Amino acid sequence: MTMLPTDARILKALRQSGHALAVPDLALAAGIPPGELARRVEELRGAGYEIALVPHAGYRLGAGPDRLIADDLRARLEGAALAREIVVFEETGSTNDVAARLARGGAAEGVAVFAERQTAGRGRLGRRWESAAHKGLWFSLLLRPRISVAEWSRLTTWAAVGVARGLEAVSGGAAKAAIKWPNDVYLAGRKSVGILIESAADPVAPYAIAGIGINVNHQPDDFPEGIVATSLREAIGTGDPLDRMAVAATVLRELTALYPVLHDDFPALLAEAEARSLLVGRWVEVRTPMGLMRGMAEGLEPDGGLRLRREEGRLERLSGGEVSVLQW
Ligand code: BTN
Repeated sequence: MTMLPTDARILKALRQSGHALAVPDLALAAGIPPGELARRVEELRGAGYEIALVPHAGYRLGAGPDRLIADDLRARLEGAALAREIVVFEETGSTNDVAARLARGGAAEGVAVFAERQTAGRGRLGRRWESAAHKGLWFSLLLRPRISVAEWSRLTTWAAVGVARGLEAVSGGAAKAAIKWPNDVYLAGRKSVGILIESAADPVAPYAIAGIGINVNHQPDDFPEGIVATSLREAIGTGDPLDRMAVAATVLRELTALYPVLHDDFPALLAEAEARSLLVGRWVEVRTPMGLMRGMAEGLEPDGGLRLRREEGRLERLSGGEVSVLQW
């Protein structure tokens, strides 16, 4: 749906008021004559927004459509620097590819590319990422970090902490988010989020793409056989589907708020990632390009890597790998 800025303003005013808003006040907030409001509201209803007219009180917003609508997201995210521009596809191959194309075309930092469905969603290590239609949030952020390219590995820590904070915030504290190094966020002991950072160290205009997949409204049957995962909805446990746009807005706001921290105070991000870590203090096995390593995960390194104390006592500093926990 293409929404006019006026419609976005109507939704924003209704959302902010939290209750019924009198017709003249709503018309004023939307910048239209009161006589035009009824027609606009009817259009929004047609697009799936529940808007009730409460006698003697005005319009009240109920549930919205279970669709990602760029203008609505824009209205919810006004001022979030990492989502200055929002693009929503009903279907695309991989949002990371779309964002990379925009980056190569010279787009500035702060474009968020969403897709309701990805036909070639990918994960780390060339794996396929299941992107069920309308169940989750599959999106990519175009970034041009102002730290040296050698430090861009920090982006994974930033993304994991930002998403973890966002999911906890939308759950109202009902879900606790943990990070499984290097790039997974877990809820209720299962993977709920995957993060794929891809970058191009072009000397003139380097860019990074933070690809984030969040399982939001999946129920157990929505995951293909063999995939052990959960969703935010399952982790919260009330059974009700969540407003995916509200989840997206909260996560993007957290990521935006933490972006300066990535640049100016990375140790603070690391400390939070360590506190949320599923691995630190556990015996783990890590599959690395140098082979399989077993040991105790002691902590995170200043660049976001994993500090592993091997069985024979040697210390390894790992920049990536596939980790299995040996003892929970
Ligand atoms: C992983 O767990 O291996 C990372 C998964 C990353 C999935 C997201 S969904 C949005 C973006 N587009 C992709 O093709 N992948 C990332």
